[in-house]
Amino acid sequence: MGYSNQVMDKIVSLAKRRGFVFQSSEIYGGLNGCWDYGPLGVELLRNVKDEWWRVMTYREDIEGIDASILMHPRVWEASGHVENFTDPMVDCRQCKARYRLDVLFEETSIKKQKDALRELDPQRFQGQQKDEVIIAEFTKLAETAPSSLLKVLSCPNCGNKGTFTEARQFNLMFKTFVGPVEDSGAVVYLRPETAQGIYVNFLNVQSASRQKIPFGIAQLGKAFRNEINTKNFLFRTREFEQMEMQYFVKPGTDEKWFEYWREQRMQWFIDLGLPKEKLRWNQHPPDKLAHYAKTAYDIEFEFPFGWGEIEGVHNRTDYDLSRHEQYSGKSMKYFDDETKERFTPYIIETSAGASRSYMAFLVGSYAEEEAPTAEGATDVRAVLKLHPRLAPTKAAIFPLVNRDGMPEIAKNIERDLRPHLRVFYDDSGAVGRRYRRQDEAGTPFCITVDSQTLEDQSVTVRDRDSMLQERVAVSQLKPYLRDKLLR
Ligand code: GAP
Repeated sequence: MGYSNQVMDKIVSLAKRRGFVFQSSEIYGGLNGCWDYGPLGVELLRNVKDEWWRVMTYREDIEGIDASILMHPRVWEASGHVENFTDPMVDCRQCKARYRLDVLFEETSIKKQKDALRELDPQRFQGQQKDEVIIAEFTKLAETAPSSLLKVLSCPNCGNKGTFTEARQFNLMFKTFVGPVEDSGAVVYLRPETAQGIYVNFLNVQSASRQKIPFGIAQLGKAFRNEINTKNFLFRTREFEQMEMQYFVKPGTDEKWFEYWREQRMQWFIDLGLPKEKLRWNQHPPDKLAHYAKTAYDIEFEFPFGWGEIEGVHNRTDYDLSRHEQYSGKSMKYFDDETKERFTPYIIETSAGASRSYMAFLVGSYAEEEAPTAEGATDVRAVLKLHPRLAPTKAAIFPLVNRDGMPEIAKNIERDLRPHLRVFYDDSGAVGRRYRRQDEAGTPFCITVDSQTLEDQSVTVRDRDSMLQERVAVSQLKPYLRDKLLR
């Protein structure tokens, strides 16, 4: 097994063992593409969302909203999702495995690419060719003549060749019905993005909040996509959460605001502790742009399985508001009081996955490092170096031993801190073990009541990352922790 797979396996196993993420409906064998967040996981996810909500809506130019998941079906015709939100899909006739066409091609090894090209054009691909040449030719064929490749590729699941069906377009929206009759007139969709709930409410929010352009509307919530292939833990799931903000601007100022939001969004991930060298921008080439976008950049994070998008920043022009105006027959134009102009604003969208960001924070904070044991030796500790604001538990409180009045003092500290912070009390096992358990859970501070506490009412506070301990007066614990957690 490759090193990166091993790391991923360790993180998935830690996530389950420590109650971050469980497979959905596990006792029934699980439901593909769906996950449940356990006691620590739900705290981490809430903290990710709270941090996003705080930076987005605690500013004077952005308002929040919480629109319904089910919307009028015309919304998805206007948005282009009924027509365009599709992925090409192929099935293996032999074993019934199903693949997204582009993923099938992307995951074909260079050796298999070479074999396929040799079979299609033996003369040209007989001898030794550089990998770059093979990749370029294979990619060209994948785009221009996918059917020919499908005839010579083997199914990754059963190994049979020539068993793929022709590619078909598959709409990723989940359908359901409103009311008791399941006919075509009752079809509605589970929203595949939260953005549309913002567009259709643009003028409601603008007039209720008396915002003037430029201003934004932020929303976070569930979105659903019937992905053909779910994979890589929380990376591509069928039910997930998005954190989207749509910024309405005057046409002509859109490029300036696009750059502004690009910078803000990258900085958010850095400020919350993702290593800079594991983040990069990926610009969508013109022929790969979504149907609504003029320009689009993804923020990518380097996961153990490779680079993957965690957020998109898109210049959506006036596409969405114009389409809703056209489909609803209602004006979506903004009237500028000062210039007396009426116009359709352009939209700069920042669209992050809460669950994907969560996974990036989990993966980005995971470390294994040598740590001293109580006996003076060293062992390897697994630690989640989560930013203190994201950490599910902020502090753990231990009595060094269960006698001499130490548990009573520790319990008093717990009682005192609990209304303000999520804390954890632990009195079982050696203190070194207790530290390791908190390291794995990402708890930034461990407070220990020891024999000196009995003399001078001070405790040790151990920092998770440096493992250094400081003595702090019990009476100063609250301001001490508040100061560290507000950073
Ligand atoms: N409103 C624009 C929009 O939805 P997107 O690039 O399709 O754009 C935005 O999605 C973000 O939503 C992605 O960057 C990703 O973080 C998250 N996302 C999309 N599909 C996902 C899936 N199947 N599972 C988990 N997260 C997903």
